[in-house]
Parts: sequence; C-alpha cells; structure tokens
Amino acid sequence: MCWKEILTSLRRRWVYLTVTLYIVSIPFVMLNTDSRVFQVGDQKNQLHYDHRNAFASTFHRLLDHTRLPMTADNFTIPSGETFRLPIPSSPTGFRFQTPIGKKLLILDVDSRSMNETGGLLNSTWATTERIQWETSGRLNHYLFAQIHGYDYQFVRVPNLRPELWGTWSKVSVIKEKLRHYAFVVFTDADILFPYLHVPLEWLFNYWDIQSNNLVTMAMDPLDPLNFDMYGKVVLNTGFLIAQRSPRAHELFEAWETCPKDERYPGCSYWSFNWSHEQAAFANYIRYDFNWPDDVKAIPCHEANGNPEVANITCAGKLVRHYWATKAAVTSALEESIMQYFIHDLFDQFHDNYDNIVSTTRLTGVAPDTQSIVVNDGNIVITPYTTTSRTPGSTDTPEDLRGQEDSFKLEEFDGMLEVRPFA
Ligand SMILES: *[C@@H]1O[C@H](CO)[C@@H](O)[C@H](O)[C@H]1NC(C)=O
Ligand SMILES: *[C@@H]1O[C@H](CO)[C@@H](O)[C@H](O)[C@H]1NC(C)=O
Ligand SMILES: *[C@@H]1O[C@H](CO)[C@@H](O)[C@H](O)[C@H]1NC(C)=O
Ligand SMILES: *[C@@H]1O[C@H](CO)[C@@H](O)[C@H](O)[C@H]1NC(C)=O
Ligand SMILES: *[C@@H]1O[C@H](CO)[C@@H](O)[C@H](O)[C@H]1NC(C)=O
Repeated sequence: MCWKEILTSLRRRWVYLTVTLYIVSIPFVMLNTDSRVFQVGDQKNQLHYDHRNAFASTFHRLLDHTRLPMTADNFTIPSGETFRLPIPSSPTGFRFQTPIGKKLLILDVDSRSMNETGGLLNSTWATTERIQWETSGRLNHYLFAQIHGYDYQFVRVPNLRPELWGTWSKVSVIKEKLRHYAFVVFTDADILFPYLHVPLEWLFNYWDIQSNNLVTMAMDPLDPLNFDMYGKVVLNTGFLIAQRSPRAHELFEAWETCPKDERYPGCSYWSFNWSHEQAAFANYIRYDFNWPDDVKAIPCHEANGNPEVANITCAGKLVRHYWATKAAVTSALEESIMQYFIHDLFDQFHDNYDNIVSTTRLTGVAPDTQSIVVNDGNIVITPYTTTSRTPGSTDTPEDLRGQEDSFKLEEFDGMLEVRPFA
C-alpha cells in the first residue's frame, strides 16, 4: 500500500488534523528531553519546559563554567579563607569523582500549612519584602538540587503523633526516604547553601565521608545549652547527611522509637522538651551507635551558624544555618544567586571593553589642570594655582588664567580633545 492509497482511503479531515498535530509536536517532544536534566522529584514532580524551567536551564548553563570540580584541590570563600581537600584516605583517590545525581535527595520536611502570604505553598507571589524566610531557604535548596542534578522533595507531614514535638517527624521521613536513595541530605528551613557552584560531592570529599558513616552532622557551638548529659557537645540536626545501609536503617528506627522509652529509658523526656529529636540523638543514639565511623561530626564553623553572627558563634563558612538571624535568610538567598549574575555581568563588561570604554585625551592645555567642566557647551578649565609643571607642556597655569572660557571639546581622530577656540 503506498502513501497515495492511504491518504485517499482516509479522507476525513480529522485524520489530517491528527497527523499535522503529531508532526507539529515533534520539536516540542525533542525540546522536552532537554528539560530532563532539570527534573526533580519523582514522576509527578517533573518540570515542564516553560519559562520557569528556562530559568533553571539558564542558571544551570551560567554555572557550567563556574562549577567547582568534585576533586578540585581547593576552594576559597570571598573572605579569602581557603579550604583544601585532604589527602584521599583511599589509594584509588577521592571517593566522589562522578556525580551522585538522582541517588541523592535534598529533603525538606514541614508540618505547617505555609499557605499564608509569602508562604512557600501559596502560589501567589508576594514581594521579596513579604516573602517568608522559610520560603527563601527552601528555594535555595531547590535551586541547589537542580544545579547539580540531585533530587529534591518537600514533604508535608500531617501531625500524626501529637505526643511528639513536630520536628520529630524529620527522623521518620529521612528513614523512609533512605529506602529509595543512597544519600539523604536533610535541610531545615534556615539552612542555606551559600556557594551554589560547590557540589555536595566536593564537600563530601572535603569532609571525607566514607561508606560506613551512617549520619554526618555539624557540631553545635560550645554554649552551656548545647551539652548532653555526659558533658559532650550535641550535634545539630538542622543539616544532616544520611547514607543508606542496613545499619543506618537500624539507627533511624532506634531514633524514631526513642521516645517510647523501651530501648532507651528516659528518652520520652525529649518528646516535647527542647531540643527534642536533637537531644535524643545526642543523649542516647550516638552512644548506642558508637562504632568509630557511625556518626561523623563536622566542625561548627563549617556547617553551622552564619557570617552575620561570626563574632559570637559559628560562621557557617561552607553551609549556613541561620538559627540566630532567620530574617537574614532572604538576603542570603538573593546573594547566593546574584553573585554569579554580577560576576558574569562584570566579565561581559570586560569582554566588550573596547566598544564601551574610551579615553579622553587633553591637548592644547596644560595637563595639570585641576578641573574641566562643561558649561553651556564650552569647556571651563580651572588650572592649579601652584603646581609642578608637566615636562613638555608650555603653558603655565598662570598663562591659562582668564582663559577658562576659551576651550572647547571636539572629536578628533576618534578621540575627544579639549582644544582652544580658534
Ligand atoms: C587552588 O588550586 C589551584 C588549582 O590546582 C591552584 O592553581 C591554586 O594555586 C590553589 N590555590 C591555593 C590558594 O592553594
Ligand atoms: C491554608 O492552610 C490551612 C491549614 O492547613 C487550611 O485550613 C486552609 O484551607 C488553607 N487555605 C487554602 C486557601 O488552601
Ligand atoms: C496567598 O497569598 C496571597 C497574596 O499575598 C494572599 O492574598 C492570600 O490571602 C494568601 N492565601 C492564604 C490562604 O493566606
Ligand atoms: C519536660 O521538662 C520538664 C522540666 O524539666 C519536666 O518537668 C517534664 O517532665 C518534661 N517532659 C517530659 C514529657 O518528660
Ligand atoms: C556582633 O556583630 C553584630 C553585627 O555585626 C553586632 O550587632 C553585635 O553587637 C556584635 N556582638 C558582639 C558581642 O560583638
């Protein structure tokens, strides 16, 4: 059967229409494959190729030439401090040399409705001034995940266990997500990745995260409030790196059921009392899961606190935790994005330097004039009264006295020149 026969046998208009629509849709289907790079979450969370996705795509490309290689020798923060990768502990080199991609989940968990003005889940944009700091923190996590190809999920939890303080739910959700991901990086709303071009793989190499580390957290500041019952400083659960393994699953199960007082008598004290699941981990879990590499502690100044409070506590040099100044999260989000655009803008200016910048050459006047002011189209030159002469110039400042109005600005040979009126 040839094409002619098929077409004559299918006369009805809708057939042509369907074929036309199919052909027209091909470029869109092909375009859409491009957007897969930026997919986040599971199938229902797929991004579509629209103007919003174009933002992620633009940002992704913008960072392509700035992205820090996973095994880069060092990284210098704007204050000038340099962080250097340690000597790899394995003879095969650093553990993270290829992207972890979708095997890593950046996880936000919240039980609040967040649908008020400026809330993350309210689809009406409020101004940056009215945006809630929780919204800003989550947008930073979401963008960071897209840039490096990690999965991102925001999990809304109903308060199913009213006998527990809300933050306990993070333990259950991390445990659940670890069934599907090799790594779960949990982030409180006030956690911020300040350097979006630095991948977690580099930070993991820097912190030397090994396969037998179950969880990794930052130490809390050395404040009397932050010690457990044995006098050891607690680890902050606001930024938590969990790694899948049967033993990690066991740890999260023990932690989740801690307030039942079965495995850990007394743990229910922390069901509602501050610092809840964090205190339970510090007082019970880490003493139970105590193989040398089970729990990894990273320095407070690297992943706790923020620069605004650096004079009194930890500075959040690589990952920030804005527990002390939550209002600063929105400007930190802006800064985390704008630094790259401003850098690119600056580079673009310099790429076009020759088309933008010209230099005015002065001729016909002593070069040691104090000021040149355009006044009604005339150039008013005010000479210094006492000044050293520039070699080669003939007019003395005194010669120019009284002649302030006798010069004009002229274009000559592509240069702007100040010349005397003829
Ligand atoms: C950082 O690494 C680069 C590339 O290896 C090197 O050229 C540079 O000197 C290093 N900077 C510092 C401060 O060590
Ligand atoms: C906002 O959240 C509250 C509490 O979850 C809910 O009762 C309300 O219906 C929500 N409003 C809208 C417009 O979704
Ligand atoms: C969502 O935000 C809009 C705009 O700020 C506001 O008018 C609306 O009341 C908010 N919705 C809820 C449920 O608060
Ligand atoms: C919370 O702390 C208070 C004060 O220390 C204590 O009396 C109370 O029993 C604690 N709550 C629980 C559930 O143990
Ligand atoms: C720390 O710095 C902040 C802001 O720069 C300032 O307001 C605060 O007083 C300082 N605190 C101390 C103890 O120096």
